[in-house]
Amino acid sequence: MTTYLSGVQPSGKQHLGNYFGAIRQHVELSKEEGEHFFFIADYHALTTSRDAGELREHVREMLVTYLALGLDPEDAVVFRHSDVPEVCELTWLLACVTGMGLLERAHSYKDKKARGIKPNVGLFTYPILMAADILAYDSDVVPVGKDQVQHVEMAQDMCGYFNGFYGDVFVRPEARIPKDELFAKVPGVDGEKMSKSYGNDVWIFATGKPLKKAVARIVTDSRPPEEPKDPDELLPMQFLALFLSADELEDWRERVRRGGDGAPGYGHMKQRLVELIEDVFAPARARREELLADPGELERILARGAEAARARARATVDRAYRACGLR
Ligand code: ADP
Ligand code: TRP
Repeated sequence: MTTYLSGVQPSGKQHLGNYFGAIRQHVELSKEEGEHFFFIADYHALTTSRDAGELREHVREMLVTYLALGLDPEDAVVFRHSDVPEVCELTWLLACVTGMGLLERAHSYKDKKARGIKPNVGLFTYPILMAADILAYDSDVVPVGKDQVQHVEMAQDMCGYFNGFYGDVFVRPEARIPKDELFAKVPGVDGEKMSKSYGNDVWIFATGKPLKKAVARIVTDSRPPEEPKDPDELLPMQFLALFLSADELEDWRERVRRGGDGAPGYGHMKQRLVELIEDVFAPARARREELLADPGELERILARGAEAARARARATVDRAYRACGLR
């Protein structure tokens, strides 16, 4: 039986990149045969969070987002990272077989440093915690966006180091990214990868004025609608491609290529995008409101998930303890 596992950081409101790159696949995969673990990575969020109330709020938002978008606790173990402290024990065991060089090569760490974010030790060692998250559940497949692939490869490396010293303790995981490059790396309103930390994101549940404002920030140039253009070069067209059916997309592309009278301008594209975001997420938005009104049910879901996840992680960590001589 295949075991699927993934986590998402509760670092704020979930954006289009999180949805198309990660959450949508998590929900789809959870309907497939196999074992499924999906968690809210609050330990990871501590690398940047400094406000307890805000972190709790973000965890709740993440849970509600997952559930509203169709993740069913009957299909998957849905849990909160910090409800399974066993992963911290496993982090230490893995840290002791991992060279500094491996962590120094992490793109996301180097990238954050280059952007002037002062790294703490937690941010530096985060790939070890992430490896522990993955290995603790004997995960076979880890569905993530492209930016997380290197972290999954590091988990493979750490799995190899530990097994190399102590025998076959851990299962080697594989990353799975969306096949379509656009979904694997959704652009932000500035054309860079969409990310909460870059402030270029669009919240999936935004509506009305705030949504229009977010979409208006999508970078364009000053060429008039009549001028024929290559649709692949236009950022608003990339956003539309996330949502439109193949037929409607081709129609837009053709009109952009042709130019002339009646060709769509950037304003048109953005207007259509606002409609699409509002429509596509409308059912989930309504469901989100219902869920927020029932905190007791949210707590019950987390408690149930914690129990199942913890039992599983404990068994793996005990196996690792025995293998390396701690028992
Ligand atoms: P952020 O970069 O906004 O902090 P996270 O690191 O919390 O996002 O990512 C959560 C999940 O969403 C991960 O699986 C990640 O690969 C995916 N993801 C994040 N941004 C994008 C994006 N722009 N395109 C595709 N997937 C993304
Ligand atoms: N690092 C991931 C992110 O930023 C979240 C995460 C933590 C994760 N542990 C994981 C993803 C284990 C997959 C598997 O999105």
